Amino acid sequence: MITTVCVPLAERGYDVVVGEGAIDALPTLLPRAARRAAIVTQPGIPVTVEPGVAHEVFAIGDGEEHKSLATIESLCRRFARWGLTRADVVIGVGGGIVTDVAGFAAATYHRGTPVVHVATTLLGQIDAAIGGKTGVNLPEGKNLVGAFWQPHGVVCDTAVLATLAPRDYAAGLGEMAKYHFLGRDDLEALPFDERVAACVRIKAEVVGADEREGGRRAVLNYGHTLAHALETTGGFDLLHGEAVAIGLVYAAEVAHRLGRIDESRVAEHRDLIAGYDLATRVAAPLDPHRILELFGRDKKATTGLTLVLDGPDGVEPVTGIDPDVLVDALTAVSPIS
Ligand code: GLY
Repeated sequence: MITTVCVPLAERGYDVVVGEGAIDALPTLLPRAARRAAIVTQPGIPVTVEPGVAHEVFAIGDGEEHKSLATIESLCRRFARWGLTRADVVIGVGGGIVTDVAGFAAATYHRGTPVVHVATTLLGQIDAAIGGKTGVNLPEGKNLVGAFWQPHGVVCDTAVLATLAPRDYAAGLGEMAKYHFLGRDDLEALPFDERVAACVRIKAEVVGADEREGGRRAVLNYGHTLAHALETTGGFDLLHGEAVAIGLVYAAEVAHRLGRIDESRVAEHRDLIAGYDLATRVAAPLDPHRILELFGRDKKATTGLTLVLDGPDGVEPVTGIDPDVLVDALTAVSPIS
């Protein structure tokens, strides 16, 4: 079944086409004036696209180290040599690294060129490709340079997910897990394609309400504060979605300690993550001082330690949390040192 979800951003609103075979819709998502398409992808991505206009493939390297300003410069120079104009289109074909890089190159090339994303990973389909966050890393940290640049359209062909390595697919389920707590639908009751579409619908609604993360969009970071800290400290060998899964359990444990949710709701988090065959804890002890320091550096931490937490009014950012509570809850997701 093909579902089309609109991201409601007035004149910058766009469609996300979801389902098996959604890739056939690609030509319909291109801007009408586009005469050529610059396809940004990586050598290992097993998806070829037929945009219906003259096109050329611009490969970028695989791995987080290629999500850099050097890659943006190289891409834009290659676009210029090929003669890409801002009436044309960039098409990002890949996971989050590709769509972040292709989106940022498009945002800056000729002061803004349309971009369409073909998301080939589960994480990309339900999160990274939608909502216009683009950017690259600096040696000083991840995603420190970027722009909001909404795509002209997004393709989420679920047939492509069969090409993913099992661990990458499972990690995408960690990101999917957060949506179980953000929307009204019972996602577990839905067939997989419809579950992907339901996640896209939640993301579209949140982005439509708060494009630039002035408030509500922060809920999309549910489970991400500990996840980012685990990814930054390193040494845990966790993919992003695996870290988010543990971060969701941690956030539930914090919310429980603050009296925001009861034990059965914590168990719901644990059961869901375990049901997705993902770990609910890290294997090695965590250094509480280091973790709190990283929480303090989080982009949301402008007024004290902030976490996105479940509660009686649903999931929302909560500020000024007692650090002792945060440290105590770490014992629920890691062995004690
Ligand atoms: N991935 C979080 C957001 O798009 O806001």
